[in-house]
Amino acid sequence: MATILITGGTGFIGRHLSMKLKEKGYNVLLLSRNSSRGNRHSVYNWNPDKNEVENEAIERADFIIHLAGAGIGDKRWTKKRKELIISSRIKTCELLFKKVQESGTELKAFISASGVGWYGAETSERIFNETDQPGGDFIGDVCRQWEKSADRFQESGIRTVKIRTGIVLAKKGGALGRMILTVKLGIGSAIGSGRQYNPWIHLEDLCNIYIRAIEDKSMSGSWNAVAPEYITNKEFMRTLARVLQKPFFFPAVPSFVIRLIFGRMSGILLYGSRVSADKILSAGYKFKFPDLENALKDLFTKR
Ligand SMILES: NC(=O)c1ccc[n+]([C@@H]2O[C@H](COP(=O)([O-])OP(=O)(O)OC[C@H]3O[C@@H](n4cnc5c(N)ncnc54)[C@H](OP(=O)(O)O)[C@@H]3O)[C@@H](O)[C@H]2O)c1
Repeated sequence: MATILITGGTGFIGRHLSMKLKEKGYNVLLLSRNSSRGNRHSVYNWNPDKNEVENEAIERADFIIHLAGAGIGDKRWTKKRKELIISSRIKTCELLFKKVQESGTELKAFISASGVGWYGAETSERIFNETDQPGGDFIGDVCRQWEKSADRFQESGIRTVKIRTGIVLAKKGGALGRMILTVKLGIGSAIGSGRQYNPWIHLEDLCNIYIRAIEDKSMSGSWNAVAPEYITNKEFMRTLARVLQKPFFFPAVPSFVIRLIFGRMSGILLYGSRVSADKILSAGYKFKFPDLENALKDLFTKR
């Protein structure tokens, strides 16, 4: 079976994706800034700040999945933090490209994470698809630069796929972990106007799309990884409260309370575009969790 090298594979998405790939029989290698994590035979070291990568990791790879990046919603967006959000995705991608070129590794494909933030955060009924231009806000610009750096692989003849990911739903972690907090505290409500769309995807479906990107040679370019159901933040929070059997309040609790709980994440959740899943559906992908109610029930009501 092919060998998949995952940067940032120690993170929220990477851990689950690694497990799923191993279950399917793939050899999985991780590229981490801290190789003491996990099994040393499959975890390689890199130090992007010093342009250092263990060459063997690159030489062994048939596919690279590039998930590494400093958390977008984790800390305040100071100038320094913004630079890190960019460099941890783009400089790392450039470093991978350089190392692949230098080692002469014949990659079968390069698959990079990207985000639905590509479209900018616009609260409107407009539906965005993969042909739309990037938004003019900070995250739109991060995604533009991120995908541009991945395109260097495509330009050199390596099949390249960019996965524009929505809010990833899992039992633990990610944005949902924080959204649940307000609901569990009994103050679940819409965030801000509640009219902004929250494109989301169940972690299981996201991993299946990554696996499809490995296996389907016809896949290249940008693909939205969002469930086909369009849902506003108000509907999202109401459904979450219903599944958790907690109260839901509307109008929203004051935004300063939400800001206290979500920090910078509130800004990301306050505005949001409506993003289409049509391209991946047309390619024949069948979502395991196409609707939010069942996705949440799978995560929170099953043992
Ligand atoms: N989760 C979502 O809802 C979502 C939505 C859209 C897009 N995405 C994107 O998908 C990718 C994976 O997301 P995730 O939720 O799994 O992220 P995560 O849990 O924060 O994991 C990202 C990994 O990147 C590495 N990393 C962190 N800071 C870094 C830095 N400064 N330089 C180099 N590597 C660094 C870390 O691995 P090591 O410590 O082992 O080096 C970390 O485990 C990210 O690029 C994210 O922006 C996620």
